[in-house]
Amino acid sequence: MKAKKVLSLLMTAVLAAGMLTGCGGGRGTEDTTQTADTSAGVEETADAESTGEAEPDEAGASSAGSGIVGVALPWLGTQNWAEAEVMFKEQLEAAGYEAIIQAADQKVPQQQQQIESMIENGAQVIVVGPVDGSQLGSVLEKAKDAGVYVIGYDRLLENTTGVDGVVQFGSVKTGELQAQALLQGLKELKGEAPYNIELFGGGPADPNAPNFFTGAMSVLQPLIDDGTLVVVSGQTDFTQCATVDWDNSKAQSRMDAILAGNYSDIEIDGVLSPNDGIARAIITSCENAGQPIPVVSGLDAENESVEWVWSGRQYSTVAKPTNALVAETVSIINSLLSGNGMPATDVTANNGVMDVPIYELPPVVVTKDNAKEVFADDPDRMALLKD
Ligand code: BGC
Repeated sequence: MKAKKVLSLLMTAVLAAGMLTGCGGGRGTEDTTQTADTSAGVEETADAESTGEAEPDEAGASSAGSGIVGVALPWLGTQNWAEAEVMFKEQLEAAGYEAIIQAADQKVPQQQQQIESMIENGAQVIVVGPVDGSQLGSVLEKAKDAGVYVIGYDRLLENTTGVDGVVQFGSVKTGELQAQALLQGLKELKGEAPYNIELFGGGPADPNAPNFFTGAMSVLQPLIDDGTLVVVSGQTDFTQCATVDWDNSKAQSRMDAILAGNYSDIEIDGVLSPNDGIARAIITSCENAGQPIPVVSGLDAENESVEWVWSGRQYSTVAKPTNALVAETVSIINSLLSGNGMPATDVTANNGVMDVPIYELPPVVVTKDNAKEVFADDPDRMALLKD
């Protein structure tokens, strides 16, 4: 307790010093990115998170942090983004920050305006899950010029120098896991090869979507080449397989058309799906066409899909827990706003104009076999696994 108090006073002093150096505790005039040793900031964060609340200091102010943090989300159309909206508010406020959280309904101009107004309202850090990874260059550079730190959340920020780092689950790795689960399910449920399959990708504006697809194809392509897997429609390019705006109804229409055009007298065995909403659309299309349910991959461990995996209607999903990604982001914000700069990381991704530091968490594949293990610490999802 005593040590914590000393740390708290130290943090207060560091914060006060940061405010004196300019920009209200934001980036300031010198760039501290990449170089600072951040271990103290990270420890403080872990402590604040584990107690779940900020401890007041003598003056009654929050000891964990203070300042304004903007969070710009792309939409709330999948469970992970809806969770992010709630969890950022809870975790940022618990850490002592004022949070401005907005979602952009998949519209680039709306997101640009939201980021502009966060800058005008004095945000010292802006967290961005971009609608379109490559369309925010100028507004993010404006943020940088105004001394604001910019952290990409879940998706890469491309073609801009206005980014300090990106927090995400490994996106190529996610695609590999989806493809491996698809293969495992085919072997388990669909007898001997060859297997008839189809491929779906996510929204082409989202930098994750081509990465998921690339990861998956690194596993599937050799098996397509040797005839183990047959893509009956012949559609194997990302552009043919992508689903604009991650729109489930577009994916369902594409699946309907593929089935009508190619599967009138054969069965479909499996489908690569980039997330859970699209997986459920694909499965529904197959059911409507009178097909036996194919093996379908997914992503997000959405509640409805966790139920479908448990009942055997969807073969797999991939868990990328939102609370962990938000906690990682908040710990970076604590480091930045206590004057410690960006934490060190060995991972970078080139965004077209610079190497961006990446803070990567591991995605985990979920099937009926391991669901209880994966969700052991997630009472909400555990409650969905009913016998
Ligand atoms: C996220 C997924 C999500 C998809 C659609 C991706 O960038 O990583 O979790 O399902 O966007 O919202």
